[in-house]
Amino acid sequence: MSLEEILQHRRAVRKYDAEKALDPEKVKECIRLATLAPTSSNMQLWEAYHITDPEVLKKMAVACLNQGSAKTCKEMVVFVTRQDQWKRHAQAVLEANIAEINANSPKDRKAHRIELQKKYYAQLMPLTYKRCFGLLGLLRVIISQVVGLFRPVPRQESEAQMNTVVHKSCALVVQTFMLAMSEQGYDTCPLEGFDSLLVKRALHLPHDCGINMVITCGYRAPGGVRGERFRLPLKEFYHRI
Ligand SMILES: Cc1cc2nc3c(=O)[nH]c(=O)nc-3n(C[C@H](O)[C@H](O)[C@H](O)COP(=O)(O)O)c2cc1C
Repeated sequence: MSLEEILQHRRAVRKYDAEKALDPEKVKECIRLATLAPTSSNMQLWEAYHITDPEVLKKMAVACLNQGSAKTCKEMVVFVTRQDQWKRHAQAVLEANIAEINANSPKDRKAHRIELQKKYYAQLMPLTYKRCFGLLGLLRVIISQVVGLFRPVPRQESEAQMNTVVHKSCALVVQTFMLAMSEQGYDTCPLEGFDSLLVKRALHLPHDCGINMVITCGYRAPGGVRGERFRLPLKEFYHRI
């Protein structure tokens, strides 16, 4: 399929074919492809929970407010944000970047580049991702406002805004997954109509993770897509400057 065909095939499916099962290995492969999505600072603070167990699917349908898409799907993938994993991921990315510099950078640039990476992942990332009941975020906002008087600075530094940063990256992963599924001829529907507490209970997730989206998966049933696609005209979105 061309990219346009993949995009045209992907529709939000509200009713799946009860007779047609998916190959869970192919769904897993689509999750692997989704790992190729970009994430902020390459921090990859997300996880995917691939549900094929019928009992857990039933619990999840209730957690998803008994929406038709959730009640009829064959499998689900729940995308979760894991800001709490920042330390481990920053260390892993730093090690990978240093190995890359050692392998590929010119000799005279290595030390400088490694120093920059250490500053970024060992000093800036802890400052950016650490949380403390909103207090560290407030401190970061104050610092960025003061520094911002003298030079351009990133200003989205509060703990709530960092939550948005993590969800933004996760949403790119989700879209990559849905497009990979579409390429397989599989159907999906992204859901944010769910009770996050029930989702965490059903999947035994830690309370401080974030539920980004629940993606239902299957083959669409006849009438499983609600009508023609509606989009506002491009001029509503497009601004050339
Ligand atoms: C973040 C997000 C949350 C959504 N939540 C729901 C939902 O809870 N239930 C539902 O039926 N559709 C949900 N949708 C699907 C949208 O309604 C759908 O994508 C939109 O109407 C456009 O239709 P299309 O995807 O077929 O182009 C959601 C979509 C997104 C991106």
